[in-house]
Amino acid sequence: MSNLDKHLNIDDLRIAAKRRAHRMVFDYIDGGADDEITLGRNTTAFDDYDLMFKVLAGADNIDMSTTLLGEKIDVPFFASPAAGHRLFHTDGERGVAKAADKTGTVFSLSTLSSVSIEEIAALTSGPKWFQLYVWKDRGLVKEMMDRAREAGYKALILTVDFPIAGNRERDPRNGFSIPPKLGIKQAWHALMAPAWSLDYVIRPSVKYANLSEDTAAVSLQDFVYEQFDAGFNWRDAEWLLGEWNGPAVIKGVVRPDDARQAVDLGFDAVMVSNHGGRQLDRSPAPVHVLESIVDAIGADAEVILDGGVRRGTDILIALALGAKAVGFARPFLYGLAAAGEAGANRAMHILTNELRRDMVLLGIDRIGNVNRSLVERRTER
Ligand code: GLV
Repeated sequence: MSNLDKHLNIDDLRIAAKRRAHRMVFDYIDGGADDEITLGRNTTAFDDYDLMFKVLAGADNIDMSTTLLGEKIDVPFFASPAAGHRLFHTDGERGVAKAADKTGTVFSLSTLSSVSIEEIAALTSGPKWFQLYVWKDRGLVKEMMDRAREAGYKALILTVDFPIAGNRERDPRNGFSIPPKLGIKQAWHALMAPAWSLDYVIRPSVKYANLSEDTAAVSLQDFVYEQFDAGFNWRDAEWLLGEWNGPAVIKGVVRPDDARQAVDLGFDAVMVSNHGGRQLDRSPAPVHVLESIVDAIGADAEVILDGGVRRGTDILIALALGAKAVGFARPFLYGLAAAGEAGANRAMHILTNELRRDMVLLGIDRIGNVNRSLVERRTER
C-alpha cells in the first residue's frame, strides 16, 4: 500500500493537506465566509436526501460516461476552477490538469491561475474550459477570451457570484497574502510545515501567469478591489457572450429566475454554486436549490451542481435531482496540497471508485438512467 492509498476518502486527504500545508494555505482552501454557515451546509445538505436503491437490477457493467456541452467525458464530474494552485504545491495546475485528463474529464483553468492559458492548453489533450472573472478593464477581458479561444478551450465559465471578495476571516487572522509575507507568526507556521515551506522556497514563486510578467501576485483582496467590476450586469453579460461566441457556462447561481434569465440570454449551462461558501454566507446549499433550477430551465440548457461534493453518493444525489454533472475543487485541492499531482490523482480516483461502487449498489448501470425516482428528500421519520 503506498502512502497515498492509506487515504481512503476525501476527508482523509483533507487531514493530510492540513498536516503538510502552511496553515494560511490550508485555511485558504478550507475556509469560507463570515461564520461559515453556508460552507458547512454545502456538504451537510446532502444528508437531507436518501438514495432509493433498486434491487435485483443486474447492474454489473457500469458505464459512468456522459456528455457535457456536447463533450463526451468518462465520469459525470469535472475539475471546477480555483485560483493559484501553485500556492498549494509546486505541481499546481499542471498536476490537476493531468489528473483530470487521466480521469477522462474536463479541467477548468481560473483567470487567476499560476500557470498560463497556453501552457495548460498544450500540456494535455483533455477538454478544458476557461473561467473568467469580470474586470474593469474590458480590453483585458477580451484579450483573455481571445487567448483562451485560440488555445482551444472549449467553453467559457463566467463567475458571477464574486462582485467583491467575501469576508473570509481565517485569511486576515493568518496574515494570508499572495505571495505569502513572513511575520513571526507565519514563520512559526512555516516551521511547522517543513515540506510545504521547502517546496515553496526552492521552486518558482507563485504568480498570476495570465497577467503580464511584471505583475507580481498581490493579495486576492487587493487584486479584487483594484480590478473586479461590481457594477457588471446582464447587459455586460450579453456583451461578453457576443464576444466569446461559443459554449458558455454561468457559475454562481442559486435562484431559478436568474438561471432562467441566463439561459434566455444565451448561456448553455448553469452552474448552481455559491463559490464554495466563500462569498455570501447564509446563501443556500446548491443541492437544496438544484431541483427548482432544473425545473426552471427544463431541456433548454444543462445544469451543473458545484459545492459540497465529497462522496460518490453526493454525485448520484445531484444527478438524480437533475444535474447533468457536478464540479468540485476542494477534493482535488486537498489532494494537491497533501501530495501534489499524485494527491490530485488520488482524489479523482477515490471519487471515481466510490461512484462506480455506488452505482452498483443503487442498481443503475448507466448515468443516463439516474433519475428522480432514485432520490427522496428526507422528512423527519
Ligand atoms: C477565488 O475564487 C477564491 O474563492 O478564493
